[in-house]
Amino acid sequence: MDKISVFCPATIANISCGFDVLGLALDTVGDIMTVQKTKEPGIRIAPIKEQDLPTDPEKNVAGVAGLALMKSLDYKGGFHIEIQKRIKAGSGIGSSAASAAGAVWAINELLGRPYTPLELVPFAMEGERLASGAPHADNVAPALLGGFTLVRSYAPLDIIRITSPRELVATVVHPQIEVKTSDSRKILKTTFPLQDGIKQWGNLGGLVAGLYTQDYELIGRCLVDHIIEPIRAILIPGFDAVKSEALGAGALGCGISGSGPSIFALSKGRKTAENVGRAMSKVYDSTGIAFDLHVSEINPRGVKPL
Ligand code: HSE
Repeated sequence: MDKISVFCPATIANISCGFDVLGLALDTVGDIMTVQKTKEPGIRIAPIKEQDLPTDPEKNVAGVAGLALMKSLDYKGGFHIEIQKRIKAGSGIGSSAASAAGAVWAINELLGRPYTPLELVPFAMEGERLASGAPHADNVAPALLGGFTLVRSYAPLDIIRITSPRELVATVVHPQIEVKTSDSRKILKTTFPLQDGIKQWGNLGGLVAGLYTQDYELIGRCLVDHIIEPIRAILIPGFDAVKSEALGAGALGCGISGSGPSIFALSKGRKTAENVGRAMSKVYDSTGIAFDLHVSEINPRGVKPL
């Protein structure tokens, strides 16, 4: 095999109480990438039609991640990468992670799978380092592994995959403004009151327990962010109204997707998730802010061949 096309899923990072450590993969939103082996060494990236993104492999997240993988194997050949970019950059649903994860997953396949998907995470994190200055893994890990992932530790990297409860469905509303992850990280405080930490790690532990035991009520009680959301919410017009509509329509919980501006909700069952989507949309319909709406099951396997 010298060519492969893959679906690279969008992801929701943080999931309210798990800043930089928790993420999940979406099933119906993602990019398409086609990667082909070439004799010419290095990586070449075809012009990206949908968005103004760099094609210089050293400046493109897919290029940087792919080059890191090739370097680790001392691979002397090359790859041509074509990206159909469906996830908007700066949307908060893991646009850079999808490209980085897709590139390393596809290259790994074409090289006969020298690495497991888990072992590919550090290479994909190099893409995140380029995109935001912070090599966070909470988008690339679920993009590569599917389901929910918990980064138990960054040094050494220790990632735990958690299977999603069957009926959990995500709703994502993306108001059409761009928030750069690097900018929305800069406004965060580096210290917080111990009392907020106690609440936050209680919720994170509870959320993980709720996922394992498929306890939807418990999941809902834990989808609260005492530390990051109060600061970042100011970057997202209508955030409080959208959240209150989502909860009113039956969502288990609602918060900022990654670094925003997308807002996510989790619900039990597709019907509720669709109602929640309608309720969230109402806010932007009435204020005239353009938005995209996605309703998606949790993707169980991450990047997959087409
Ligand atoms: N954990 C990262 C952040 C995710 O919130 O900055 C960015 O998508």
